[in-house]
Amino acid sequence: MRPVSIVGFGIIPVMKQHDLSLREMGVRVIHQAMESAGVDRVDALYAGNMLADELQGQKHIATLLASEAGLVGVEALQVRAATATGAAALRMAYFAVASAEADLAIAVGVEKMSSAPATPALAKALDAEEEVPTGATLISQNARLMQMYLERYDVPYEAFANFAINAHRNAMTVPHALFHKEVSVQDVLNSRIVNPPLRLYDCSPICDGAAAVVLAPADQARAFTDSPVRILASSVATDYFRVDDRPDPLELRAARLSVMKAMRAANVHRKDVDFFEVHDAFSIMACLILEACGFAERGQGWRLAQEGEIFREGNIPIATMGGLKARGHPIGATAIYQTAEIVMQLTDRAGPNQIPNARIAMLQSVGGAAATVLTHIFARQERV
Ligand code: COA
Repeated sequence: MRPVSIVGFGIIPVMKQHDLSLREMGVRVIHQAMESAGVDRVDALYAGNMLADELQGQKHIATLLASEAGLVGVEALQVRAATATGAAALRMAYFAVASAEADLAIAVGVEKMSSAPATPALAKALDAEEEVPTGATLISQNARLMQMYLERYDVPYEAFANFAINAHRNAMTVPHALFHKEVSVQDVLNSRIVNPPLRLYDCSPICDGAAAVVLAPADQARAFTDSPVRILASSVATDYFRVDDRPDPLELRAARLSVMKAMRAANVHRKDVDFFEVHDAFSIMACLILEACGFAERGQGWRLAQEGEIFREGNIPIATMGGLKARGHPIGATAIYQTAEIVMQLTDRAGPNQIPNARIAMLQSVGGAAATVLTHIFARQERV
């Protein structure tokens, strides 16, 4: 395996009811990413999309996008891992380049979920025989986890407010974010209950978006850009599929296993991580991820929020460009947006959101109710 770098990216603003069609969104970011890498051809394209077959009646997205983008003949495959789909596409592009099957690969994520009922389609990431018939959705599963957490650790609901406050504050200065609205503790506490104890501000929104990144061998990266970013590790781990089968549902074992694998592969300690793009689809998920990855003891993750450690000036900044909560969570595109944002941070292009001297970043992506978890670790690529 050879080292791999990101040498270009393309993003469009996350929106509700995007005026571009699904394919137009995908083609737009593919072209942007290729333009930023200065290439007119790639060897492989991996497309992340979770819901288009149900919401737009369109399967076979990767070849469609390749064809529409003028890349006929290229290897093109669709990749899926429920709500971690974007990260799965990134992992396949990483493998294609690392294994020398491809010299240039694109990971593109695209999702258009705001024009049709997305909640039942999203729930299909759960067990169709055992969970969905009982009315379970991703929202209800996360609500159960949060209720369990509040009771077990005797934590007040308010302790979670800073997850939303941080994400919305960071999104204020991000042009491609869905929300540009600062929220206060009172806004969070007064927001509508979606599924007790989850309130509106505990949830990521339903929205549309697309993002793409171009990957190349690290030792050629500077031929394409003066600001490449190395992918130090890519890992995936799984847990019992159903939450109810897990010995302790509040322990995200797949998150813990996947981060351990990634940190070993990257030879990175958690203290080396300058910021962490977590899967804050729900505030409880951000809290449990921080615990599973060792940034807080079990039952203490909320303290990182309450004490401001997750803010940009804190010890472990999260959602530095708004996160899933406020930049938005267009499923198949989400981890690719996060990767593009990590590239901006690690190459000093994050503007007012810049984490000073950021050198190492981590990305974690959660599929379903944390049954599949991917971790990627990235580093600023210094000139050698
Ligand atoms: N956070 C903050 N504000 C939100 C929001 C969110 N998550 N979702 C919607 N809003 C706002 C809208 O902008 C709108 O504001 P406006 O009246 O000022 O324009 C208002 O709330 C109503 O929007 P609407 O789209 O009608 O809300 P909704 O009730 O249909 O959806 C949720 C709210 C929380 C149910 C929906 O966002 C949701 O299902 N989220 C979870 C998605 C999910 O499961 N993703 C996968 C996770 S892995």
